[in-house]
Amino acid sequence: MNTATFSPDTDWAKMVCHLPAASLEASTAIKISQVGVQYRTVEALRNVSCVVAPGRLTGIIGPNGAGKSTLMKAMLGLIPVTGGTVLYGDRPLMEQRERVAYVPQRSQIDWTYPATVWDAVMMGRVKKTGWFRRFSTVSRRVAADALDRVGMSDYRDRPIGQLSGGQQQRVFLARALAQEAEVFCFDEPFAGIDQKTQAIIFDIFRDLADAGKTVLVVNHDLGASITHFDDLILLNTELIASGSRHEVLSQENLYRAYGGQVMFFTEAAA
Ligand SMILES: Nc1ncnc2c1ncn2[C@@H]1O[C@H](COP(=O)(O)OP(=O)(O)O)[C@@H](O)[C@H]1O
Ligand SMILES: [Mg+2]
Repeated sequence: MNTATFSPDTDWAKMVCHLPAASLEASTAIKISQVGVQYRTVEALRNVSCVVAPGRLTGIIGPNGAGKSTLMKAMLGLIPVTGGTVLYGDRPLMEQRERVAYVPQRSQIDWTYPATVWDAVMMGRVKKTGWFRRFSTVSRRVAADALDRVGMSDYRDRPIGQLSGGQQQRVFLARALAQEAEVFCFDEPFAGIDQKTQAIIFDIFRDLADAGKTVLVVNHDLGASITHFDDLILLNTELIASGSRHEVLSQENLYRAYGGQVMFFTEAAA
């Protein structure tokens, strides 16, 4: 990225969504082909193939233990696969990590790490700036705008361990925005957070998708929040279905994924 093209007054949308939606890069889909993952005795994913489209908000859904987190980690090369490929453009996604912002499940983050909100968001700029170079004016501006976007500017000097769950999730979203990535991966960002925070986060996801970004979100809730997603990937070790939300949320697919256990939100009834 040529930072010289930015004016310090550039607004948030231009900063974070600097790729035009129609650009070649932003129109690249992620192609997951025949991915398998085995944890010692547990087969977590079997032969999963699907496509994640740019410019869309895509949810990964399925019951507890279905392999949702495993699929996200396997895509990013964070765990070994027994087979398969994940391509972004013509190269493995895991070789293009600088284009990806990933926010793991909250339970996997070390909240005792002594970082302030500002530190956590500036970590999103490290790949742009390098560890040993001073953060540029542009980087500080991008980070400040990202914090503002999630409504957390007043908390910049607060240790992250002292925040509520919803505030922590917003700070990690700000870090992802500060990264100016093309692909955004969030694992259960809505677990245990309030409605107001959920609405703020969905607004930002929608803005990112509208700007041509790829937004992939693990979401175990089949309640009303499901209607925010354009596309869904329904898993239960194997891929049950993927595609548009309406196609995926058929009674038959849900039954195959959840058995008789599911009470799900029907849009007609809302
Ligand atoms: N590190 C691990 N070691 C062994 N088994 C694991 C590990 N992580 C996940 N599993 C198992 O793999 C399966 C899929 O887990 P996960 O991807 O976390 O599911 P989900 O995110 O859909 O709840 C589950 O049976 C889980 O118990
Ligand atoms: Mg999970």
